Amino acid sequence: MAGSTLITERLILRPWYAEDYAPFAALNADPRVTATLAGNLTRDESDAFADRIATHIDEHGWGLWAIEIKEGAPFIGYAGLSRPRFDAPFTPCVEIGWRLAFEHWRHGYATEAARAVLDFGFNVLRLPEIVSFTTIGNTRSRKVMERIGLVRDPAGDFDHPSLSPDHPLRPHVLYRKGRL
Ligand SMILES: CC(C)(COP(=O)(O)OP(=O)(O)OC[C@H]1O[C@@H](n2cnc3c(N)ncnc32)[C@H](O)[C@@H]1OP(=O)(O)O)[C@@H](O)C(=O)NCCC(=O)NCCS
Repeated sequence: MAGSTLITERLILRPWYAEDYAPFAALNADPRVTATLAGNLTRDESDAFADRIATHIDEHGWGLWAIEIKEGAPFIGYAGLSRPRFDAPFTPCVEIGWRLAFEHWRHGYATEAARAVLDFGFNVLRLPEIVSFTTIGNTRSRKVMERIGLVRDPAGDFDHPSLSPDHPLRPHVLYRKGRL
């Protein structure tokens, strides 16, 4: 299945190109970007992640779309939908997520992309609910969730099972939004 493309005022959310892999590896090796994630990725790990993302879009027509700025940077990161691969009280579910290169923070791009993704999830995929989660201290990501209308479910707080019990990023908060 061909991957879909979402267009917003300033951005194009599209399937991945081979040229995206190098700038993706650069942002995954940037400690400013990975400070709230589980650590930097090596080039091989980043490429394998990009392969998984690209394959998912190819097979399903949706996923974590590569973002480019219209008549600007050809790749600034991703935003989109995925299915978490771990078990938790709120899984199976579809998660909305985002990751941008540091130089493209603070322009509203993540929020703009996320609004288009949410619209696709509810109005094209007809999902009944979309969730998002992040480590408690990831204020920037939580603000994106709140700006697009996700609401924190305090009963959904959980320890991320992929991180070791003593990992400081293990405690996570859960946000939800149902289709209106
Ligand atoms: C999460 C992440 C994408 C958020 O980036 P961000 O720049 O804070 O979010 P946005 O792109 O929506 O930009 C919002 C900011 O742009 C500002 N802004 C500037 N120009 C703007 C415009 N034209 N329109 C809208 N907002 C604009 C907003 O005021 C806001 O600033 P503030 O946070 O200081 O109030 C980014 O921090 C990131 O990639 N982090 C690492 C990866 C990560 O944590 N991913 C989530 C894991 S769950």
